[in-house]
Amino acid sequence: MPNETKVRLKYKELQYLDRNESQYGPSPKCYDFLKNVTLDELAWYSRDFSRGVKSVLSERLSKDFNIPERQIILSYGSEDLLKQVIHYYLERKEKILIPKEAWWYYKKVAYEVGGFNVEYPMEIVKKNGLCSYMYNVEKMIEIYERERPRIVLIASPNNPTGNRIPKEDLKHFLDACRGALVMIDEAYWGFGSTENDYVKPYIDEFPNLLICRTFSKYYALAGCRIGFAFAGANLEELLKYTVRYLGYNRLSEKLAEIALNDTEYYEKVTGQMQEDKKMFYSEFNKLEGFKPYKSYANFILVDIPKDIRKGLNKYLKERNMLIKFLDEEAFRTEARITIGTREQNAYLMKLIKQYLRDLTLVKN
Ligand SMILES: Cc1ncc(COP(=O)(O)O)c(C=O)c1O
Repeated sequence: MPNETKVRLKYKELQYLDRNESQYGPSPKCYDFLKNVTLDELAWYSRDFSRGVKSVLSERLSKDFNIPERQIILSYGSEDLLKQVIHYYLERKEKILIPKEAWWYYKKVAYEVGGFNVEYPMEIVKKNGLCSYMYNVEKMIEIYERERPRIVLIASPNNPTGNRIPKEDLKHFLDACRGALVMIDEAYWGFGSTENDYVKPYIDEFPNLLICRTFSKYYALAGCRIGFAFAGANLEELLKYTVRYLGYNRLSEKLAEIALNDTEYYEKVTGQMQEDKKMFYSEFNKLEGFKPYKSYANFILVDIPKDIRKGLNKYLKERNMLIKFLDEEAFRTEARITIGTREQNAYLMKLIKQYLRDLTLVKN
């Protein structure tokens, strides 16, 4: 039996390396908890509100980050939070400033309330043989001053480019944009570094700042739909607007807490993913016409030769492998690949090389 067929037999089901979900899953302790769920966790509201806090989870995050519990928002994932922020603050005809190279929902959300987008472009730089997208803060400030948007969105790391904004550049930007609500979307926090030391000082210093995170990506709990944010002192109305008096999803809160406790598991998984990202950089750099971009997230963006995109997409789908071939204004030739398990990553790379080999054979 040819080698490829043997591997394919193991991949009878679709491999979803197209939506930045975790392929490793959450801490095994999350499954243990689910096996022993109690009646009150399923059938009763939480009573946290009567204790003067929103949830055991916001209480926990408050302790971890040394930020008052009332300045912590819980949400149904960060998509939900983004929607709430825009719907609450953006008036008709007002602007939000977003990256040109952005997650598709950034491009849509302002229109839900009759607002519109102004875009700031990123730059591409090359360092040590690897290309990378970069936030150009001076350019962002220039556009901010010209357009005076109500809200600014920065994703760090950004989807789909994978780059992050260095904390010094972020501070410089926040200093220059004190008139707007600035939302830093850190949905992909943790994959590049687990640094947290800037969160409290920035939240204290910038009262219009909102730092959003989620349990969907690093903690692999996307199905549980739970996210959180730290809000600066001026965002008082948002704190009131987002509060839920009957509590949140008690299973999700508990799973999130368990995940926060199991640092060892997540560090191990992330370590493997970082090694695999390096494998992808090096392998793609060897293939003619392919260009990988440095990523601090659980995915990488890769430029793929235009003339093989369609064929490669079909070839991979036929072998049950899904990656995201982007087709939008800022990305006509790129694909975004979610970093899967070691086995999935190796299988994908093998398929791509196999496709290129088959192509040369046909051409000759
Ligand atoms: C940049 C970015 N922000 C936010 C989200 C939403 O994540 P969730 O609602 O699962 O927290 C996503 C999802 O892919 C994303 O790519």
